[in-house]
Formats: sequence, C-alpha cells, structure tokens
Amino acid sequence: MRATEVLSAHHDELRSMLTRLAELPGDRVDERQEVLDRLVDELSMHEQLEDEIFYPAVTAASPMVAIAHAEHRYLEDQVAVVLRTGPGRAGFDEEVRVLHEAVEHHAGHEETEMFTEVDAKLDADVLEQMGERISARLAQLRASRITRLRLRVKRGVLRRTPGGARRAG
Ligand SMILES: [Fe+2]
Ligand SMILES: [Fe+2]
Repeated sequence: MRATEVLSAHHDELRSMLTRLAELPGDRVDERQEVLDRLVDELSMHEQLEDEIFYPAVTAASPMVAIAHAEHRYLEDQVAVVLRTGPGRAGFDEEVRVLHEAVEHHAGHEETEMFTEVDAKLDADVLEQMGERISARLAQLRASRITRLRLRVKRGVLRRTPGGARRAG
C-alpha cells in the first residue's frame, strides 16, 4: 500500500473509534474509558508516524504540512479536554463531538488535499516503500511495552494540562 493509503486506512480506524465512543451509552463508563484510552493512543501514534516519517518526506510536495503541524497541536489540546472531562461527567459527549469534528476536519483535509498532491507528485515506488515503513513502524509501536507505558504517562500528563482543566471546569 502507498503511504497515503496506509494513513487513510488508519484515519478510518480513528473514525470508527470515535463513532463507537459516541454510541456507547453514558452509563458504560469503564467501556467508554477503554475506548477513549485506545483512541488517544492510536491518535498519538498516528501523529508520530506523520511527524517522523510522512511529513518530512512530503514537505516539498505539499504546502499543507505547516498547517498540519498546527492542527496536530489543536487535536492534542482537545484530547486533553476530553481526558480531563472524563466519560463519567456531563459535557463529555459534547467534548467528544468537538474532537470528532476536529479529527474529521484534519483527516479530511489531509485526504482531499495533501494526499492527493503527494500521490500526484511523488514516485509510486517511493510511496509504496514509505507505506511499508509506516505500517512496520505502527506495528512496532503497537507491540512495544515501552510505547504503551509512554502513552499511558502522556495521557496522564494531558489529563492534568491547564487548558484541559480550564475548559472542562
Ligand atoms: Fe495529520
Ligand atoms: Fe493523518
């Protein structure tokens, strides 16, 4: 698969986790927390794959990379708000909806603009090789105990960020 296809497929996984989270009844707090934690970890890994491998390789092909970095920071802020609110509290559904919208905006932007440009400008072989690299790195991150621990710590830090505390009040 081309890098753009691998990343689009991962976008779809993020989308289905967001839908699952929105559909889970409010009283199933533990399940909601589980899905939320998995979503936050997958989103972190997705951004890491793009920041480390994809964006640096396509900066020349797409002017959207600079905007994409800013959008990742915004996503991280909203993740902090969702984590800080927590699945057992009022306002959670609304904050998840805002996150869903932000992910959709960013992923949609990448798919319709950035990936289209990159597919048109980069060599098919280069994109295939990059796709393999991204898939392998994702599998490696998912299997790594150190990564799991790092992501858990990161969630804890995000949960306590002032922005999240202020907005979730
Ligand atoms: Fe992105
Ligand atoms: Fe993406």
